[in-house]
Amino acid sequence: MSLLRIILVILNLVCIAIVLYLLSNYLMSDDNKQSESLTIVKLKPGQLYPPTEGEVWPKPQQQITEQTYFKLSPSVFKFTEKGETCEILKNAIERYATVLRRLHNIVWINLKKTWKHAEPRQVDTNPDFKGTLEELQINLRRPCEDYPHMDMDENYSLNVSAVSSLTSDSIWGILRGMETFAQLFYLCKGYKDVLINSTQIVDFPRYTYRGLLIDTSRHYLSVANILKTLDAMEMNKMNVLHWHIVDDQSFPYQSEKFPKLSEQGAYDSSMIYTKANINKIVKYARDRGIRILPEFDVPGHTKSWGSAYPGILTECYKSGKVVGLGPMDPTKNITYKLIGELFHEVQELFPDKYFHLGGDEVALNCWTSNPEIQKFMDNHKLTNNSELHAYFMTKVLPLLDQKSKPIVWQEVFFNNVTLPSDAIVQVWHPSGPKDMIAILSKRHKVIYSSSWYLDQLHNGGDWVYFYVFDPRRILDSKLYKLEDIVGGEACMWGELVDDTNFIARVWPRASAAAEVLWSALDPQYTISNGSQIASRLEEHVCRMNRRGVRAQPANGPSACVGRNIWLTSSFGSINFESSSFGSSSFETSSFEVQNQFDVTSKEPPPRIPNFKLIAGHI
Ligand SMILES: *[C@@H]1O[C@H](CO)[C@@H](O)[C@H](O)[C@H]1NC(C)=O
Ligand SMILES: *[C@@H]1O[C@H](CO)[C@@H](O)[C@H](O)[C@H]1NC(C)=O
Ligand SMILES: *[C@@H]1O[C@H](CO)[C@@H](O)[C@H](O)[C@H]1NC(C)=O
Ligand SMILES: *[C@@H]1O[C@H](CO)[C@@H](O)[C@H](O)[C@H]1NC(C)=O
Ligand SMILES: *[C@@H]1O[C@H](CO)[C@@H](O)[C@H](O)[C@H]1NC(C)=O
Ligand SMILES: *[C@@H]1O[C@H](CO)[C@@H](O)[C@H](O)[C@H]1NC(C)=O
Ligand SMILES: *[C@@H]1O[C@H](CO)[C@@H](O)[C@H](O)[C@H]1NC(C)=O
Repeated sequence: MSLLRIILVILNLVCIAIVLYLLSNYLMSDDNKQSESLTIVKLKPGQLYPPTEGEVWPKPQQQITEQTYFKLSPSVFKFTEKGETCEILKNAIERYATVLRRLHNIVWINLKKTWKHAEPRQVDTNPDFKGTLEELQINLRRPCEDYPHMDMDENYSLNVSAVSSLTSDSIWGILRGMETFAQLFYLCKGYKDVLINSTQIVDFPRYTYRGLLIDTSRHYLSVANILKTLDAMEMNKMNVLHWHIVDDQSFPYQSEKFPKLSEQGAYDSSMIYTKANINKIVKYARDRGIRILPEFDVPGHTKSWGSAYPGILTECYKSGKVVGLGPMDPTKNITYKLIGELFHEVQELFPDKYFHLGGDEVALNCWTSNPEIQKFMDNHKLTNNSELHAYFMTKVLPLLDQKSKPIVWQEVFFNNVTLPSDAIVQVWHPSGPKDMIAILSKRHKVIYSSSWYLDQLHNGGDWVYFYVFDPRRILDSKLYKLEDIVGGEACMWGELVDDTNFIARVWPRASAAAEVLWSALDPQYTISNGSQIASRLEEHVCRMNRRGVRAQPANGPSACVGRNIWLTSSFGSINFESSSFGSSSFETSSFEVQNQFDVTSKEPPPRIPNFKLIAGHI
């Protein structure tokens, strides 16, 4: 071990110690300390963290917000296309028109509630009020691409004023900018109007790969829930859905070539993904600038393949007797034939340029317990089971059609498989920070996941645990090419989540990773600004709920007016053309902004935990 390695390991330990210290501080914040001395400290009423108003999540790279503001009027506001256009843009305009219309419906419901009280209508006399927002001009400067990809351009600039403008060279940048635009709106106090401040934003992601892993083998997830997940990813500017589609427990992928795989390997004939389902998911994701990365994990995690084809799995022995089936049998030609043909079919279905081959957690002992395999290893001069794993992966990699590049879990790299130079290695071990060094030294690109296992639960609003780690931040940019850490991925392994709790468990916890991966590295904006971040996340969670994503509470006691608006707001029947909001049947000019009205006159005092103790080094 070189001196450098030792120093890095020590640095790592120091980092971990600091993180633990910070977390203990966070958890011992006011709330917890107070509960010990409840008898003397009076509990304050209201939300733990008052939500912000019109703060974007993830935080844009550069933003100037002014005091001047406009109001949204669905009968006036329209989206206009000033540059190139395509189906993706037209769909986005329709989508975001709906988002704004439904947000405005909260005002409508509120007005209806207070209708009878016939309060005097007041004109907003605040000198910062600049009238009604007229339009968002969308200036796409280059033709649309068909499908998002690893090097997609997501840069955009946004200028909000009476006539607002959004500019990007790329449809993907336009999509990100439209999301930002929608997030800048907020409800004024008393829910009498939807407002937006004059704002200038220049924005782009720090990491190009910002992923979420879903696991549909341990529990089946409905297609509707996967689509909902894509809605939430769009709201968090995540751009890769890593679909760990099959595993030991079930095989829900319906193959045309090998239908027996799901007939016998799925939990139930209703719990499968058909070709039509997959096409729908891929298109829905594409419209939101999200890639679908399929994973068919081999040679471990494959027991469900064996329901239909037991012959491709290894018989594991104990005391000379077969005790069960283990990983795929690397000695049989039929194994490779099945894998190759299945992969080709899957590659046709998923347009992404990458394919995840898995390669993690292989039960190597089963291989060495099997006398046939022992004999095979002797014949092939393989001295241990890691070498057999390498042999297997080396045979499987070329089975992928040329049009896909491989992504593998880190075991494949550490078992010395010679990977193609464009293969990406995904790091998941707790030792991931250190493991990245070895992978980067071999010039492979890295996707980092170790700190973002969403199946690990902690007390309280545990988004903080996912917020404190930034994979590029711990390595020295002089020693390593940090751009080779292309991004990260939050992983929601499926053992304990199904349709009932999946969305709530992922959001807003994955939002923490999403912000780390998008936003600027700013020493002035770290977990030491925890209470500000917590307030921003409060707003974001409410926003997700208002848009039909049932995110769980982020921090503690809170409230979200209008969280059912997505379900209830079919009234108002507004017709809009693809480029405009159309007219609303209820919006009348007699309802003016009335900023003074304040139902929450006892505004909750901010509760700021002891973040000051936290060093800014994380
Ligand atoms: C937006 O404008 C309002 C009204 O002038 C102001 O109170 C608020 O501070 C502004 N928001 C930001 C983030 O500057
Ligand atoms: C996006 O903006 C960043 C920062 O200005 C710049 O470094 C990057 O090259 C831009 N990307 C593209 C594709 O223009
Ligand atoms: C934003 O738009 C306003 C009004 O059109 C204009 O005065 C201002 O210069 C623009 N700002 C930027 C940064 O483009
Ligand atoms: C398996 O394939 C290898 C190489 O293609 C070939 O040499 C061998 O004979 C095959 N084994 C069987 C049992 O078909
Ligand atoms: C397997 O064998 C190779 C070559 O002899 C050796 O480098 C490696 O350390 C061995 N791996 C294990 C896990 O024993
Ligand atoms: C991989 O190769 C390195 C260097 O030859 C060796 O030290 C290591 O033990 C090998 N790992 C395995 C798991 O075989
Ligand atoms: C974050 O906290 C630091 C130190 O408390 C402060 O100097 C800085 O202004 C804060 N950042 C923001 C964006 O408020």
